[in-house]
Amino acid sequence: MTTKLLFPENFIWGAATASYQIEGAWDQDGKGESIWDRFSHSPGKVLNNDSGDVAIDHYHRYREDVALMQELGLQAYRFSIAWPRILPEGRGRINQAGIDFYSRLVDTLLEAKISPFATLYHWDLPQALYEAGGWPVRSTAEAFVEYTDIITGVLGDRIKHWMTHNEPSVVANLGYLNGEHAPGIQGDMTSTLRSAHHLLLSHGWAVPVIRQNSPGCEVGIVINANHTPSASTSVADRQARLEQDAIWVRLYLEALAGRHYPAELTHFISTQGLLPEDTPYIQSGDMEVIATPIDFIGLNSYRRIVIRNTDVPEDQNLPQTLFPSPENDENYTEMGWEVYPEGLLQVLGRLHFEYQIPKIYITENGASYSDAPGDDGRIRDALRVRYLRDHLRVAHKAIEFGIPLAGYFVWSLFDNFEWAFGYSQRFGIVWVDYETQQRILKDSALWYQRVMKANGVD
Ligand code: FCB
Repeated sequence: MTTKLLFPENFIWGAATASYQIEGAWDQDGKGESIWDRFSHSPGKVLNNDSGDVAIDHYHRYREDVALMQELGLQAYRFSIAWPRILPEGRGRINQAGIDFYSRLVDTLLEAKISPFATLYHWDLPQALYEAGGWPVRSTAEAFVEYTDIITGVLGDRIKHWMTHNEPSVVANLGYLNGEHAPGIQGDMTSTLRSAHHLLLSHGWAVPVIRQNSPGCEVGIVINANHTPSASTSVADRQARLEQDAIWVRLYLEALAGRHYPAELTHFISTQGLLPEDTPYIQSGDMEVIATPIDFIGLNSYRRIVIRNTDVPEDQNLPQTLFPSPENDENYTEMGWEVYPEGLLQVLGRLHFEYQIPKIYITENGASYSDAPGDDGRIRDALRVRYLRDHLRVAHKAIEFGIPLAGYFVWSLFDNFEWAFGYSQRFGIVWVDYETQQRILKDSALWYQRVMKANGVD
């Protein structure tokens, strides 16, 4: 017999999506072009040249989709707002039809007793703003605040949970360093660091605007952090880990905590042979703005990444103790991401013990497995159920340790457009047939429905 691990009474159960990944209708009702439209329309950028042009057509099917959320028993739904639907050129002219879409979506959610958790920026920057310099320039941060003011001014009465940015490190590093994401620039460390700074600055500027427009709301930002041990105890591997951690995680958390950008960045930059210009883009007062108090951090966490210094030949990488890496295929999802639920405890503990974050929501956690409907129509995604269950057990343990974890959002509610991987990776607990747009609950959705109802996991 198993014991049910019960979560606190007011724990929030939800699921997450993002505008470009589900909406489709990329050029309808006055929406402007985004950098992801441009990127996915450029041959060779996205696997199979897939795009979010149609995606899962949520823009037209949102009513059925909300009905399905209600049937599942979701208490909260995390989605993002597409900036170019609101301001097609990024600034200036407002597109009322875009505002109306989100207004209808929010009303439909509230009627279904589902709390809307809205992300203002989940990567679909208006193309016009990219052409005006994009995140490397300060005016984009100013434009973000104008957009925030407009949309929170309209929806602030009904949405009470706001997230400024989703994973700013991915925006900066995948957009400007490895080029896997829009706008697809490679090896530009200066633009990477400038983007990081302007994303954070725009966040800090936006917080009081959101509070003003949405009385009584909670405001936060979504950070991605995984468990990233070094592969061995060698100096080289440990140094590599520190550098990776600096550019992926500490750059953001340290700045938000009112400290400074991490020192390792300087070293990291020089070892890459990429000397950034001086940092005149960091103006006096910026770091204080970035550290404006917030109500919560949203944590996106998926996997363990074991860090090794690949520049050092292994025999010279001594002395060291090797940490074992798993060999079994079942330890990896179809993204090639290692499943390591215990690591979630380390990451949550870090947020709590190192940064005293007042409240944490797990805003994304989930797994890519492509299990399809069987002859009986049922989708037996047992590995996803196991993944989610094991992570929830760890989340429960974190709460027992006193970590202020207040909610959990599965990534994702639906199979959807997985960025550079197109439609090849399915993260949904709900299956989507991309030909017919039919939605089918996977076993994991039915399982999650029971978890939410019981407010606990076995
Ligand atoms: C996160 C993104 C989300 C989704 C998952 C798999 O980095 O925020 O949109 O793509 O990864």
